[in-house]
Amino acid sequence: MIQVARRSLLSIEHLQAPEILALLKLARRMNPLKPRPLLRGKRVILLFYEPSTRTRASFEVAAKSLGAITTLIQASGSSIEKGESLLDTGYTLRAIGADAIVIRHPCAGAPHLLASHLDVPVINAGDGMHEHPSQALLDAYTILRYKKTFKGLQVAIIGDIYHSRVARSAIHLLSKFGVKIILCGPPELLPDVATTLATGVRVTRHLEEAVRGTDVIMLLRVQKERLAGLKIKLSDYIARYQMTPARLKLAKRDAIVMHPGPIIRGLELSGDVADSPQSKILEEVQNGVPTRMAILARAVGKAR
Ligand code: CP
Repeated sequence: MIQVARRSLLSIEHLQAPEILALLKLARRMNPLKPRPLLRGKRVILLFYEPSTRTRASFEVAAKSLGAITTLIQASGSSIEKGESLLDTGYTLRAIGADAIVIRHPCAGAPHLLASHLDVPVINAGDGMHEHPSQALLDAYTILRYKKTFKGLQVAIIGDIYHSRVARSAIHLLSKFGVKIILCGPPELLPDVATTLATGVRVTRHLEEAVRGTDVIMLLRVQKERLAGLKIKLSDYIARYQMTPARLKLAKRDAIVMHPGPIIRGLELSGDVADSPQSKILEEVQNGVPTRMAILARAVGKAR
């Protein structure tokens, strides 16, 4: 059970820097266009309690590129709708012969619960506001394609940081490598000062301050309904925080723009920025496949 738990990927917070580097190195050796049968005959179950396009599709392509059989279970249309619990669903999938379970769930800690009860590696594909470890790994992979090293880098993370599992995993990962991180957004969408002071991460509500001289701009998804709920006017958010060509010019000339997706043009960023050569948003999606191939190979113990 302990060996299996070690092969799960539940969070970035609990990974050591050398484990992260080993996964990134393995990801660089993975090529979906040259499939390797490392998972031949293995069954990978994709258990999604929340919508997903990128994570779900790239885990599926990654698993199939390694020769695995995949099965998708979504809350809608499965016995989850009839009230079956997470653990009973997990036991059922194990009985069917799952060799690995990739789970997305609205509750923080759901993948940990599953992993602590099943002798199957569990991969967290996003749990509530907690973590999205595979996204952080593919983002790190993307950053290193352009910046070669984390040493001396500055990353500005802009948008709804408070509710973002993507931000939480990215902050854990980048701070393990000494990256200078600046969080930026309206105060209602920023984490509390005590948390950020404890981690040494800087916080500002001024976009220009966050972007000036930065190497990487990581934009986050902003939900219109959440802005409305917090009484933040959409027009104010756009006026103060939308990434535009003029604001992008404040960053280093070779700065890259990232976004985990789904993007909303005209809200988090302008169409010009989304389509600019500095935007690496689609490349992040592409890099999700080799990164998730590496995660799956590690999960089934074929990470050589
Ligand atoms: N980045 C991300 O998690 O996207 P999906 O919700 O489409 O999987």
